[in-house]
Amino acid sequence: MRLDKFLGDQNIGTRKQIKEYIKNGRCSVNGVVATKADAHINENSDEISFDGNVLNYSKYHYFMLYKPQGVVSAVTDGRNKTVIDILKAENVKDLSPCGRLDIDTEGLLLLTDDGQLIHKLLSPKKHVDKVYEVHLEHELSDKDIQNLEKGVDIGDKNDDGTPFYTMPAIVLEKGIDESGRPVIHLVIHEGRFHQVKRMMEAVDNNVLFLKRLSMGSLVLDETLTPGEYRPLSEDEIKELKA
Ligand code: URA
Repeated sequence: MRLDKFLGDQNIGTRKQIKEYIKNGRCSVNGVVATKADAHINENSDEISFDGNVLNYSKYHYFMLYKPQGVVSAVTDGRNKTVIDILKAENVKDLSPCGRLDIDTEGLLLLTDDGQLIHKLLSPKKHVDKVYEVHLEHELSDKDIQNLEKGVDIGDKNDDGTPFYTMPAIVLEKGIDESGRPVIHLVIHEGRFHQVKRMMEAVDNNVLFLKRLSMGSLVLDETLTPGEYRPLSEDEIKELKA
């Protein structure tokens, strides 16, 4: 592939910027300063460096966003800021959120242009675990916990018209928050629309605040603050794909 395409895929800059960087001697191929943007390189065997750092080629891009409240998990929206707007500076074509969090939900959101991985993580057949921190209006009774762990009717129907019951969830009691409200960690294996809120309504409760902590092997990096993001590490990408 062309050197400028390689550097573009790694989000080094726009085509124009990359041309300039190469002209300024900031890029080398196998230890030799590159001079031509259209030079042909082998992305698998050549060692490409930019400003002295070796770049590992990845066709796709993967980011962990700490989604803040007030932002929609969509690519475009006529009214509200989207999660894609937050990552605009990355200039990645075809970046999409992997699933949706409600506008008032915060926490972990994976964004990638790797459609195959998105498909795998969202497939209803794969039952990828998601862990949520849920702040509730009332304390859950033992019976509520038993019901949530067995599966509850959230108002959806199966294809044959019978009521859909959620898969067995896990409820971990975490105490109370600063406002004195009960907090739980809830592990679910599906990702239906408003699923957590509807599960809590099914046991006559209400969600006051919702934060996603993890999705499969990917855990929210608590050094991020709402609205911040970072690229996934090689290990995080490998584990998600496994
Ligand atoms: N369940 C919900 O109800 N809302 C979310 O944003 C995510 C899970």
